[in-house]
Amino acid sequence: MTKILTIVGARPQFIKAAAVSSAILDREDLEEVMVHTGQHFDASMSRVFFEQMQIPGPKYQLNIHSLPHGAMTGRMLEALETVLRAEQPDWVMVYGDTNSTLAGALAASKMDIPVAHVEAGLRSFNMQMPEEINRILTDRLSRLLLCPTDKAISNLNAEGFRNFHCRIIQTGDVMYDATLMFRHRAKKPDYANLPDHFVLLTIHREENTVAPRVFSDMIRAINLLAEKTDVVFPIHPRTKKLIAGAGLPAFSTKVHVIEPVSYLEMLWLLERTDLVVTDSGGMQKEAYFFEKPCITLRGETEWVELVDAGYNRICGRDATCLLEAYDHFRRNPPGFAAGLYGNGNASALIAEALSERIPE
Ligand code: UD1
Repeated sequence: MTKILTIVGARPQFIKAAAVSSAILDREDLEEVMVHTGQHFDASMSRVFFEQMQIPGPKYQLNIHSLPHGAMTGRMLEALETVLRAEQPDWVMVYGDTNSTLAGALAASKMDIPVAHVEAGLRSFNMQMPEEINRILTDRLSRLLLCPTDKAISNLNAEGFRNFHCRIIQTGDVMYDATLMFRHRAKKPDYANLPDHFVLLTIHREENTVAPRVFSDMIRAINLLAEKTDVVFPIHPRTKKLIAGAGLPAFSTKVHVIEPVSYLEMLWLLERTDLVVTDSGGMQKEAYFFEKPCITLRGETEWVELVDAGYNRICGRDATCLLEAYDHFRRNPPGFAAGLYGNGNASALIAEALSERIPE
């Protein structure tokens, strides 16, 4: 029996783990122990995901959150070392690019426990992003690099990973698996005034939410968009905290600011939205899974294939770009071709790779 210790902590990791944990459960040669670092801790950011998607509850809950990057990562590193010593797993599996990901990869690799990284090889080439630092270091520490796209593979090749002691495989994207698993259970959010037609908005990236002045520009841009369409905005706690502070312009009444939604509610909104406006990585892909155009509120993206195909436009915080992109997509809805993120069997391929012999 191969024992996998999975480390999760932030909302998108619960969704990815739901898909992969179910593929692990399907195999008799694998067992999984889950650790929740506590990075996301509000019930609406964490517990609801475990309940709705029936993810096996974490055996360890570290309760580490709301700290600066160094303190958060450092405390996770220390606590995870203790867990790893007790569990002695064959693999540590980490997801994506959060502080929980890096802490897990670092703790395991220092103890010579092989690391499997789901969503390996992604790059924004923006080293100001904490996530870019986390993913580069995690990839370098990993023995099994599970890549969602061809571009991820070519990024690793360009960085010389073929010469490193690791195995690289293209699996497709586990978020596509999750969409296929759960979209038939999509659930209407409990919000009385949802408009029939709307744009779905999310904003949480540090670069957009760290300074009130920057976020003020964002609000002005969104209010201009709201002159053309209703906007539904499930708000991340980070962004909510910023808005609670003084001195920001008010959102237009056509911007419906609602509490963070569960995954099943997000699937419902994705099914019905006209398009997606976001600075999230996962939402850019989910827009594509639901054949909705996406406008990205960042200066670059890791998911370049969506931009190349004409499904996604990169606008940063430029209001003119946002309005032009909205008009463009409303006038010329793209014809979506399937297949950019695999066949929906990424989780099964990951489970299979974990069950194979660990490269010496
Ligand atoms: C983190 C990840 C990001 C991922 C995102 C998904 C890092 C560096 N960033 O960003 O890659 O896309 O999660 O959402 O790991 N907070 C709450 N309640 C919660 C969760 C967070 O109040 O349940 C607050 C925290 O206390 C903190 C702020 O929100 O003040 C930001 O949380 P943090 O976990 O640092 O980063 P995210 O912005 O969520």
